[in-house]
Amino acid sequence: MLDKSPRPTAVNVPNDLAAHWMPFTANRAFKKNPRLLAGAKDMHYITVDGRKIIDAASGMWCCNAGHGRSQIAEAIGKQAAALDYAPPFQFGIPQAFELASRIAELAPTGLDHVFFCNSGSEAADTALKIALAYHQINGQGSRIRLIGRERGYHGVGFGGMSVGGMVNNRRAFATHLPGVDHIRHTHDLAGNAFSKDLPAHGAELADDLERLVNLHGAETIAAVIVEPVPGSTGVLPPPQGYLQRLRQLCDKHGILLIFDEVITGFGRLGTPFAANYFGVTPDMMTTAKGITNGTVPMGAVFCSRKIHDGLMIGPENAMELFHGYTYSAHPVACAAGLATLDIYKDEGLLTRGASMAGYWRDALHQLKGLPNVIDIRNIGLMGAVELAPRKDAPGARGYELMVDCFNRGLYFRQSGDAAAVSPPLIVERSHIDEMVSILGDAIKRVA
Ligand SMILES: Cc1ncc(COP(=O)(O)O)c(C=O)c1O
Repeated sequence: MLDKSPRPTAVNVPNDLAAHWMPFTANRAFKKNPRLLAGAKDMHYITVDGRKIIDAASGMWCCNAGHGRSQIAEAIGKQAAALDYAPPFQFGIPQAFELASRIAELAPTGLDHVFFCNSGSEAADTALKIALAYHQINGQGSRIRLIGRERGYHGVGFGGMSVGGMVNNRRAFATHLPGVDHIRHTHDLAGNAFSKDLPAHGAELADDLERLVNLHGAETIAAVIVEPVPGSTGVLPPPQGYLQRLRQLCDKHGILLIFDEVITGFGRLGTPFAANYFGVTPDMMTTAKGITNGTVPMGAVFCSRKIHDGLMIGPENAMELFHGYTYSAHPVACAAGLATLDIYKDEGLLTRGASMAGYWRDALHQLKGLPNVIDIRNIGLMGAVELAPRKDAPGARGYELMVDCFNRGLYFRQSGDAAAVSPPLIVERSHIDEMVSILGDAIKRVA
C-alpha cells in the first residue's frame, strides 16, 4: 500500500541542506559553511544574504554575455509558452534548424553540420561515437581506439571519462572504455612558468601521438580528442605550434581530430572558437556552455561535411545514426541559443576578448612574486594563478583561497591549487582590477 502520510523528514524544511548530494563538491564542508547564491546581474552574483560577488569564472565558463540578460529570459519564457516540448526524433522545430545554421556559420569553414545534445559530457560522447560510426561505415572498422590526453577533461560520461586525463575523475570508478590511451600533457612548469600567452616550449609533445601509433598501429585509432586549451585542469595554453603539429599527425595517419571547445567556444579566446584562434580546423568540435549563455542546458557537436556525408547512406527512409537524446534541440534551449547569438552579434562579444586580452594578461601577471605563486598563465580571456601545493595536502591551499575570496566578494573556479579565472566577455578594465586586487590580497592571507 502507498504511504500517503506527509513526509515528516527534514527535507521539507526550507534550506535543509541534507538531501541534495552536490556534484564535484566537498559536501560536508559546504554544508557546514554554505555558499548560497540567490541572484545574478551582469558581472555579479548576489548571495542569499545580499552580498555582491564579482564573477571571475563566467559561472562555469558559460555566462559569456554576463548574467541576467532579459532578452534571453524573455525568449525562454515565450518559447515555453508557445511550444514547451517537441519530439526531436523524426520531427523538428524551425528554431533548431535556424540555430544550427547560425552557429555553423560562425565555425571554421567546413564544420557545417551540427548535432545537438544537452551538455559538454554528452557532446564528448556523441563526437566519440560519431568517430567510431564514421570509420565503420568507411570500411575502417578496425579503428576503435580513442585517444585522449593527460590532464584533459571531457565530462563525466563513460566516453568522456575514459578519454579524460584527470586522475581523480577516473581512479574512483576503476574502469573505463577498452582501447583508450592518452598522449602526454603539455604542462611544463620547469620550462614554461610565467609564460605570457602561448608557451615557447613543447610543440614536440604532439609527437607523442606517433608513440601511440607505433604502439597500437594507426589502423586501430579512430580519433584523438583534446581541449585546445585545457580549462578544468587549470588553464593550460598549448605550446606554440603544438596544435598545428597534432593536426598534421592526425592527417598523416587518417585519425580524426576532435577539439573539445566546451570552454573555448563562443568567444573565450577573442575569436568565435579556439579553432579560429589557432588556425587549426578539427574534424569535429564539441561545444556547450556559452551556446545558451548558460541559461538552459545545451550541447552541440560540429562535424565536417566529410563525416556527415559519409554517414548519410542507406535507404532514404532509414535512420543514419542511432544516437540522440529526448532533449536534443529542446525548444527552450534553441530559443535561448538564438537570443544568445543575437546578443553576441549585437555586442560584438565573440571577438571582444581580443581587445581585452592584453589588459587581462598584464593584470594577472602583476601577481607574480606574491607568496607561493609558482605560475601565472593567460590566453584570450582565460587565465590561472597557480600556488605551490602544501606538503601532503595538494589542493588545500587552493580551496582556502577560493573560500577566502568568496567571503571577500570574488568567485573563481578552483582547480587543485590553481585559481582559474575567466570573466564574462562583457568585462571592463575596472572589473579586472577588482578581481586581481581581491585575489592578490587573498593570496597574501592564505599562507
Ligand atoms: C572541456 C570540457 N568538456 C566537457 C565538459 C563537460 O561539460 P558538462 O559539465 O556540461 O557535461 C566540460 C565542463 O566543464 C569541459 O570543460
